[in-house]
Amino acid sequence: MKGFVSGLPKVELHLHIEGTLEPELMFALAQKNGIALPYDSVEAVRAAYEFDDLQSFLDLYYQGAQVLRTEQDFYDLTYAYLLRCKEEHVIHTEIFFDPQTHTDTGIAFDTVISGIHRALSDGEAKLGISSQLIMCFLRHLSEDAAIETLQQALLHKDKIIAVGLDSSEQGHPPEKFQRVFEMARDAGFLTVAHAGEEGPPENIINAIELLKVSRIDHGVRCTDDSHLVEQLAATNMPLTVCPLSNTKLKVFSDMSEHNIVELLDKGVQVTINSDDPAYFGGYMNANFMAIATTFDLPKQRLAQFTRNAIDASFIDEVAKAKLH
Ligand code: HPA
Ligand code: ZN
Repeated sequence: MKGFVSGLPKVELHLHIEGTLEPELMFALAQKNGIALPYDSVEAVRAAYEFDDLQSFLDLYYQGAQVLRTEQDFYDLTYAYLLRCKEEHVIHTEIFFDPQTHTDTGIAFDTVISGIHRALSDGEAKLGISSQLIMCFLRHLSEDAAIETLQQALLHKDKIIAVGLDSSEQGHPPEKFQRVFEMARDAGFLTVAHAGEEGPPENIINAIELLKVSRIDHGVRCTDDSHLVEQLAATNMPLTVCPLSNTKLKVFSDMSEHNIVELLDKGVQVTINSDDPAYFGGYMNANFMAIATTFDLPKQRLAQFTRNAIDASFIDEVAKAKLH
């Protein structure tokens, strides 16, 4: 099974680039940039990665991201992830970045996007990995702050395919961002949103109806509403599911409790993704293996996750047909 999973071509649709910051690079960048870390070793960082919920993870994730200061830092972070994609047969990836995490501490938007974009261009040219970039608004911050971020993104419209919504779901529902998402759509961006990770099914419904998303990120709590599950299946609304993230953040108490196979059986367009692999203990192959072994899935059904991801991607239709 391991050989099949690692050789299977994979498409990743839910990956936060800041969540690929491995402790080794975190330490190297902290030292280079003169930033003090509250850990004295790489092992101590890894040992700190025990989470109770989404917020306990986010606190460490935002802290870790502070070591990223220069254009080259963003390049190195992104290129390291692409090398991992190459190793794991990820042929296409759609990457989130959180500009506000950096602009709030004085790093220019241009610095962030230039480094990431230069690495993605090199990834395509040197590694043959195609990619798209999705800019996320931090939902714990204000709508005005999101609008300001959108304005900065307009100068880089050619590099960004969609806008998304991440960070703390509890207390920050999709409707808070209805206007900025409308502005983004008017400017030509596609939209996605994290919804139904920790929050209720209504967040999934409102992301679809009010934010007009093309995909739901996570969405696993849809099973609290059987009518919604039927609707997701009937409308082919993709869910970018992240198994190891869900167990690390205690959305499910154990992988055997995960509902991705139930959703696949019900005809929902579910995909497998790694979310923040440096924090959750695995990249794409590890996420596929967790589901394959827990549910004893045959190869055909595992390959369905890749077919779903190709269909759910923002690749143009001609390129999609080639990948199938
Ligand atoms: N959920 C919400 N916000 C995030 C996540 C997540 O899984 N990862 C990084 N930011
Ligand atoms: Zn996520």
